[in-house]
Amino acid sequence: MHRRFIVGNWKMHKTISQAESLVTDILQIYQPQASVELAIAPPFLSLPAVARLLASTSIKLAAQNTCASDEGAFTGEISPPMLRDVGCHYVIIGHSERRHIFGETDQDINKKVHAAFHHDLLPILCVGERLEERQSNKTQAVIQQQLQTGLDGIESKNFEKITIAYEPVWAIGTGQAATVDQATEVHRHIRSFLDTQWSVKSDQTRIIYGGSVTPENAKSLFQSPQINGALVGKACLNSESFVKIAELATSS
Ligand code: PGA
Repeated sequence: MHRRFIVGNWKMHKTISQAESLVTDILQIYQPQASVELAIAPPFLSLPAVARLLASTSIKLAAQNTCASDEGAFTGEISPPMLRDVGCHYVIIGHSERRHIFGETDQDINKKVHAAFHHDLLPILCVGERLEERQSNKTQAVIQQQLQTGLDGIESKNFEKITIAYEPVWAIGTGQAATVDQATEVHRHIRSFLDTQWSVKSDQTRIIYGGSVTPENAKSLFQSPQINGALVGKACLNSESFVKIAELATSS
C-alpha cells in the first residue's frame, strides 16, 4: 500500500515573494501525516526560495519540467543536475501543456525520463487523452502509446520510483474532473499495461489523478484504491484548498 502522494503544480503563477508567502501559509496550517507525501512544484525562479522554506519539513520540492541534456547550448533550458543542485526531489515530465502548447513528443519525454533517473530525480510522468480521443474510444490506445514510448528502455526496478499522473486533457483547468469511475478504469488499465509490457508488479507504481481536483471532489476520488493521490493545479494556488486536499488524502 502506497502513501498517498499529493503534488501541487503551480504552473506559471507567483513571483518569488508571492511563492514565499504561499509556502509560509501552507506550513502554518499543514499537519504532516505519515500516510501522505506532499510535493510542491513552483516555477523555476522560485525553486531556491521554496527550497529554503521546505528544508526542515517533510514536503518535497518538484520541478515542472527539465531539459534532457546535462549542459550545453540550450538557451532557456534548465538541466537535471541544476534541479538536483537546488534541492528538487521530483520532476514533472510530459505535462499536457508541455505536449500540446510546446510540442513535446513522446520521444522527447522519454529522453527526459531517462535523464531524470540518471540524476536521481524521480519523474512524475503525465499521460492523458484529449476529449475527441475519449469520444472516439481511443483513450486506452492513446495512453498505451504515451507509456510505451515515454517509458521505453526504463528498467523494471525503476517502476517503484516513478509516478504516473493520469491527467485527461479535457479535465485540466476546466472545472470538469473525471468521475471516480472514469479515473479508476484508466488507472486499472495503466497498471495492467505496465504489468504486461514491463513485467513489473504495477502495484509498486504510484498512479495519481490530475484534472480539476478540488477539496469538493477529492474525497470521492481518494475512495478508489486505484487512485494513489492527486496532481493539483488551480486548487494548489490557495493554501487552504491545497492543505484540505492533503487532509482528505489522509482520511479517505
Ligand atoms: P487543474 O490542473 O487542477 O487546474 O485542472 C491540473 C494539472 O494541470 O496538473
